[in-house]
Amino acid sequence: MNVLLIGSGGREHALAWKLRQSPQLGKLHAIPGSAAMKSLAECHAIAVDDFEKIYACCLAKKIGLVVVGPEAPLAGGISDFLGAKGIKVFGPSQKGAMLEASKQFAKEFMDRNSIPTAAFTALYDAAFAREKIKANQKYPVVIKADGLAAGKGVRICADEGEALEAVADFMERRIFGGSGSKVVLEEFLTGREASVLALVDGNSFLLLPVARDHKRLQDGDAGPNTGGMGAVCPVEISAPDLEIIKKEILQRFVDGIKKERIPFCGVIFAGLMFTPGGPKVLEFNVRFGDPETQSIMPLIKGDLLALLKACADGKLAGKELETSAQTCVSVVLAAGGYPEAPEKGKEITGLYKVPAGSLVFHSGTAIKDDGYITSGGRVLSVTAAGANLEEARKKAYAAVSKVSFEGMQYRKDIGV
Ligand code: GLY
Repeated sequence: MNVLLIGSGGREHALAWKLRQSPQLGKLHAIPGSAAMKSLAECHAIAVDDFEKIYACCLAKKIGLVVVGPEAPLAGGISDFLGAKGIKVFGPSQKGAMLEASKQFAKEFMDRNSIPTAAFTALYDAAFAREKIKANQKYPVVIKADGLAAGKGVRICADEGEALEAVADFMERRIFGGSGSKVVLEEFLTGREASVLALVDGNSFLLLPVARDHKRLQDGDAGPNTGGMGAVCPVEISAPDLEIIKKEILQRFVDGIKKERIPFCGVIFAGLMFTPGGPKVLEFNVRFGDPETQSIMPLIKGDLLALLKACADGKLAGKELETSAQTCVSVVLAAGGYPEAPEKGKEITGLYKVPAGSLVFHSGTAIKDDGYITSGGRVLSVTAAGANLEEARKKAYAAVSKVSFEGMQYRKDIGV
């Protein structure tokens, strides 16, 4: 079967690496793919929102399954568009993608379906939001822009002043455009976070090994929020928490999409907080996580393509996931100036010195004069698996030590 993978980041590089191991794979194509993905897939310079051209590519290349990486084309309705033309897609419908593209939609879905989450209020205009904030007695409080904001639309506000500033930024200054036309005011939860990803075919789910990413730029969770500076997989989950994840989060999610007739074939990614009152959902994403995927893929032993195809065919029930007993650590190497103003065009050295057995997934690189240069904020995800966390960290950081580029930043405490 020929497969078309949509996207160009480290997540898609890891997916391409894993899909290439499938005995069912004919030819792998990518739109747009990346310089590094060219050794794994035939890459096509087509925009991810140009659905007509993507469809034409599916016909020309006899694509049996489209796998969508990023959220934007899902929110734009790529699955509905291609699905209506008879193309199989792993990635939810536009309505399903609203679970990521609208915080309000997601919170109300959780509420209707008794999925444990923080208390919230949706606020539709700035004057009303200010009124609610002035009446709020409990800080910190969380304010989220309703729409997609590249992971930057969440503010933890320590006091009334910060909350009012968030409302002004999101709703009046519109720093995220229309994504801030509504906001969600949310109870602040404490605890450790985890990323729970499951494959879904619309009727059942299959839990992937649970990962944890590190969102802040610097060690000890200091500095600004980023798209993710590294990930570890699996993380330890107690038996009672695992029970809640399966029964009260994932099963209720599947029951909810069925009851509400939301077509959903793809990944549900629940960002969780393990609170003293049990695991609660902070947010839903409707795609594989980045950099979580870079730490999950090396642990999947079976045929990923067979599972994604089973989802697209509505035949996931009864399928099992074969995973390695190892632990995997993925360290993101980011550009100088990231996240505000990443420097680009810096020569990357030492990639060929990375020890065999470690993996380097490219998030933002380009080719210049036969060598790689930086071309994005997050540049590389250096990944290694080991018998335990300590060994995986040691191997991952040994690989990191071989690579360099001017301004390179990375955390030394991934997995800690
Ligand atoms: N690592 C968080 C995300 O993919 O949204």
